[in-house]
Amino acid sequence: MNLPPVIAIDGPTASGKGTVASLVAQKLGFHYLDSGALYRLVALGCQKHGLDPKNGPEIAELAKKLVISFKNGQVFLNLEDVTEAIRSESMGLLASQIAVHPEVRQALVSIQHGFRTTPGLVADGRDMASVIFPDASLKVFLTATPSARAERRHKQLIAKGISAKLPDLLQDLQERDARDSSRGTAPLFMTDGAKLLETSELSIDQAVKAVLDWYQGSLK
Ligand code: DC
Repeated sequence: MNLPPVIAIDGPTASGKGTVASLVAQKLGFHYLDSGALYRLVALGCQKHGLDPKNGPEIAELAKKLVISFKNGQVFLNLEDVTEAIRSESMGLLASQIAVHPEVRQALVSIQHGFRTTPGLVADGRDMASVIFPDASLKVFLTATPSARAERRHKQLIAKGISAKLPDLLQDLQERDARDSSRGTAPLFMTDGAKLLETSELSIDQAVKAVLDWYQGSLK
């Protein structure tokens, strides 16, 4: 059976992979999976139910019961619009903590596979190429230096009217990088066959074009 094609884009926190992945999906008319949003939704559920972030089995049970939906760029948890709530720095941090548990990761596998429908999918996260879609047509490891990423995050927060200190953001993202890259299950790493896209000096358009060119090249 021929499954729809997948472009897997992995990378660290605040690398811009979400922006690039969703634009690539738009250009190709493909579906888009923001797998980080799933971990953030579970983190929010965990907080709402007062669960201990260290209790993997309990969080996995909760993850299986959550009613998650995406519609026109909005994210819903049990029918409540949580688009903004999951985007906070604290929810990113909690997502990174609960994502270390193998049971929690396993609970999210089938929902991620469910996004793979015609005409194709662009999926971004940490383990898209290595674990979830190992047969992806194109695998991209998208990154930027920690200082470039912290500056981007700082600009985004300031634009939203949220005050933030650059040194704090840099420290937070380095902590998250370390945890996401060193955990035992599905750590972030550049898989064999992935193409490296270093975006510190690239505009969004340049990064999108690089992915589209690689994808066109992979079809030949
Ligand atoms: O991409 P993001 O910042 O929204 O992801 C939030 C956290 O979720 C990230 O720090 C680690 C976890 N995550 C993961 O473990 N695997 C994924 N495929 C996506 C996110």
